[in-house]
Amino acid sequence: MSGRVIVVGLGAGDPAQITPQVAQAIDLATDVMGYIPYIDRITPKQGVRLHPSDNRVEIERAEHALTLAQAGRIVLIVSSGDPGVFAMAAALFEALEKNLRKWQDIDIEILPGITAMLAAAALVGAPLGHDFCVINLSDNLKPWSIIEKRLLGAVEADFAMAFYNPRSKSRPEGFEKTLKLLQSLCEPDRPVIFARAVTTKEETVQIVPICKANAEMADMRTLVIVGSSQTRIIKQNKQKWIYTPRSYPDTDIQ
Ligand SMILES: C[S@@+](CC[C@H](N)C(=O)[O-])C[C@H]1O[C@@H](n2cnc3c(N)ncnc32)[C@H](O)[C@@H]1O
Repeated sequence: MSGRVIVVGLGAGDPAQITPQVAQAIDLATDVMGYIPYIDRITPKQGVRLHPSDNRVEIERAEHALTLAQAGRIVLIVSSGDPGVFAMAAALFEALEKNLRKWQDIDIEILPGITAMLAAAALVGAPLGHDFCVINLSDNLKPWSIIEKRLLGAVEADFAMAFYNPRSKSRPEGFEKTLKLLQSLCEPDRPVIFARAVTTKEETVQIVPICKANAEMADMRTLVIVGSSQTRIIKQNKQKWIYTPRSYPDTDIQ
């Protein structure tokens, strides 16, 4: 008898961001898996088996979930934000593809959540109101040369940019290189948003022109947004809003 694997996103931090659909799945689960701090964010019903693990064992976690589901369990895998954004949903499909025949009968569901980029953008206005791109700055799973190529393409195409995993203690140099590159290509007053631990008690938001941005402003709990050439700041009701207009001026952007 095969069970189910449900991969859910818990939103950026505030429990109010857990969707009703995800809350229902939490109630349904017989087993909950995930990185320890994410499991700590939910209150499972009595009798549920918890399987906390480290954040570097995604494929093993996914295989464990599939194995339990094959034995008839209803397994919930929790991610922060949205599970499809640099998180467990893709890891599950990687594990599945390795052994497709074995896991053929298992029901799989992916339930979306509010990703950090959207929670951060909403705090400051609408910096992603026009075309934008999203880049994971960690070079754990891809080489720096690919990140650099994507950054150059994003500036060339005049996208606003959202950066996940900007800077960790083990790889502080990548974000320094990113900032240097952007500072050499963008006009100095281009707004940059450093949104840390958004929707949690530790939330901080810094907005600076790119010429004043420095790498220490980001860590692994920070989501960074760099505006496009059209992103602007307006003041209203003692608040500074940042937005990117939905229409592009009728100019040549070469
Ligand atoms: C492995 S990614 C996971 C992203 C997650 N699946 C999502 O959709 O938000 C982790 C990165 O997400 C960003 N992040 C996650 N939660 C955040 C929050 N509450 N505030 C700011 N950034 C956050 C940070 O850039 C962090 O390094």
